Amino acid sequence: MADILWHNQTLFKNPEVFDFAYIPESFEHRGGQLQAMADCIKPAFNNMKPINCKIIGETATGKTTSVKIVFNEAEKESSNIIFCHINCSISHNIFSLFSQIHKKVLGHTPPSSGFPLKDVYDNIMKKLKSSKKTLIIALDDAVYLEEINKVIYDLLRACEIYNTKVGVWIVGLPNELFALDEKTLSIFSPHQINFPKYTKEEIINILKKRADYGLYQNVISKQIIDKIANETLKKDLRFGIELLKSCVIEAENKSEKAVESDDFDSAFKKFSKIDGKETKDEKELIILNLLTQEGIISGELFEKLKDKMSYSSYYRLIDKLNKKGLISIEEKFSNTGRTRVIRPI
Ligand SMILES: Nc1ncnc2c1ncn2[C@@H]1O[C@H](COP(=O)(O)OP(=O)(O)OP(=O)(O)O)[C@@H](O)[C@H]1O
Ligand SMILES: [Mg+2]
Repeated sequence: MADILWHNQTLFKNPEVFDFAYIPESFEHRGGQLQAMADCIKPAFNNMKPINCKIIGETATGKTTSVKIVFNEAEKESSNIIFCHINCSISHNIFSLFSQIHKKVLGHTPPSSGFPLKDVYDNIMKKLKSSKKTLIIALDDAVYLEEINKVIYDLLRACEIYNTKVGVWIVGLPNELFALDEKTLSIFSPHQINFPKYTKEEIINILKKRADYGLYQNVISKQIIDKIANETLKKDLRFGIELLKSCVIEAENKSEKAVESDDFDSAFKKFSKIDGKETKDEKELIILNLLTQEGIISGELFEKLKDKMSYSSYYRLIDKLNKKGLISIEEKFSNTGRTRVIRPI
């Protein structure tokens, strides 16, 4: 009886540890990269121009998390530097990008229509100058940014014209970011910070720590972590963390107090079933992993994903999953309007 998990019990000690926006309590194996980022900020503490950088690494190697950690830490050290981390898969056009920067520097967004981009620049630069503040902008997933050359060039040129101090960081995958033209590169001249893929030992350590913070004791064994690590090596760490969570959900669904080998098998089979239907897209896997048989309202599902994707890419992914026959969408009408309930098939 002791091994039965009652319906009101859970194996998750801290479920938020498995959220996308979660900043890990323990962030190891990236000491060199965190230091290199801090070195790019350092000149700004002495009133000099910060160093631009290019943060490059395969998916789920900790780039976004590192930027967030370094920005958070540096923000505590100086009130003279404004840090602006932008997810370009959401703010992908110039106006929405500069609106975000405007908001960070001036405390409010510019009017969304009829306000020329030039005035937005002007406001940002004048405010930086009058407040004697330095701005560091991280363009995360920069590949999604329309007119990346223009953005970087105009920002850095504007600093020369207005005599302000701005640092630009771009973040992306190794094969993405070489589309910068000569003119932009010459003004940008970034330091490069590389994020290599994690080794199996590193993956095991990270998964163990995640389990320690997120799960009750003895929910997951060394052997299961090892199996998950082997699959993570073939894909990436985000997949590994999702698989770990899925294994625990499988165990919970069977009212077990610990993950057994067959929970790993069924969790993994779900991912492979998806692979079998030629879905290797990680974001599709993440969506499928959030679905339950009772169904989830589309808006609520997007709430859980909005840190990871824009509404338009969410909408496209849902449509794709529907066409592949991996989900069902039921339309419901109520006095508050139309809602869509999404379920796995
Ligand atoms: N060293 C680490 N320790 C603990 N967790 C980590 C580490 N590196 C990455 N993670 C976790 O892996 C996941 C992916 O990390 P992150 O989003 O920072 O990667 P990324 O390199 O920005 O990926 P992408 O290229 O897809 O944007 C997150 O859940 C993060 O918490
Ligand atoms: Mg990222």
